[in-house]
Amino acid sequence: MDRRPIVIANWKMYLDAAATLRAARATRVLVARAAARVDIVLCPSFPLIPSVVAAVKGSRIRVGAQDVHAELRGPYTGDVSAEHLRGLVRYVIIGHSERRRQYGETDDIVARKFHQALHAGLQPIVCVGETADERDAGDTVAVVRRQVHRVLAGMPALSLARCVFAYEPVWAVRSNLGAPGAQPAPDDAAQVMGLIRKVAADRAGRRYAERLRVVYGGSVDAKTAKIFVAEPHVDGVLVGASSTNPVALHRIIREVLACHS
Ligand code: PGA
Repeated sequence: MDRRPIVIANWKMYLDAAATLRAARATRVLVARAAARVDIVLCPSFPLIPSVVAAVKGSRIRVGAQDVHAELRGPYTGDVSAEHLRGLVRYVIIGHSERRRQYGETDDIVARKFHQALHAGLQPIVCVGETADERDAGDTVAVVRRQVHRVLAGMPALSLARCVFAYEPVWAVRSNLGAPGAQPAPDDAAQVMGLIRKVAADRAGRRYAERLRVVYGGSVDAKTAKIFVAEPHVDGVLVGASSTNPVALHRIIREVLACHS
């Protein structure tokens, strides 16, 4: 099954408004050719979405949000619903470890967000992964299986083609713009990504699970992208800190393309 590779840039809260716009414009120029062969998704913070949408209009670059609320409407001061995002962005990141940790998002909340995104016609990018403690306790498989299983319960099999799962070991995600953190052995990461597809296959059948895109995330840069994407069945990367630099992002995209051509 030929799945289109995907590179997702999670800009978190790293860039101010002017720097966000500069990064979007520079990325557009640099990736113009590559964008024909790989899905490129820029995820700025909520208020900067419209200016990034305008900056990439007419290109193949897509825009994503970094989160969405679990409910569609209601008394949720400061939150953003799937309805607000519909028509504005194509993708939305859900269940990022920073949100799970900093805002106490449970598997149940992540699952509800996932369903809101799907109902609104958005393409969810679901982050899963174990903490350092869970890894040390030998619980990686159980944790990731539980996280994926919980999200996919009650989901129509057909929707898998619109979903992306990102395996992001929490301990590998960079805590700031500085030096990259630790990383798993590429074949260990690939095994967990295989597990994600297996859980999807158990839920929806192999035929549908083959359409699901599964990517790696956690301290990816231009040097490390290819060692993860070279593993079989890895469809791309989710990149935080390195993606704020358009030249680095472009290099990562080229590495991903090289592995997929
Ligand atoms: P990082 O972030 O590439 O800076 O480690 C990845 C992520 O949090 O999605």
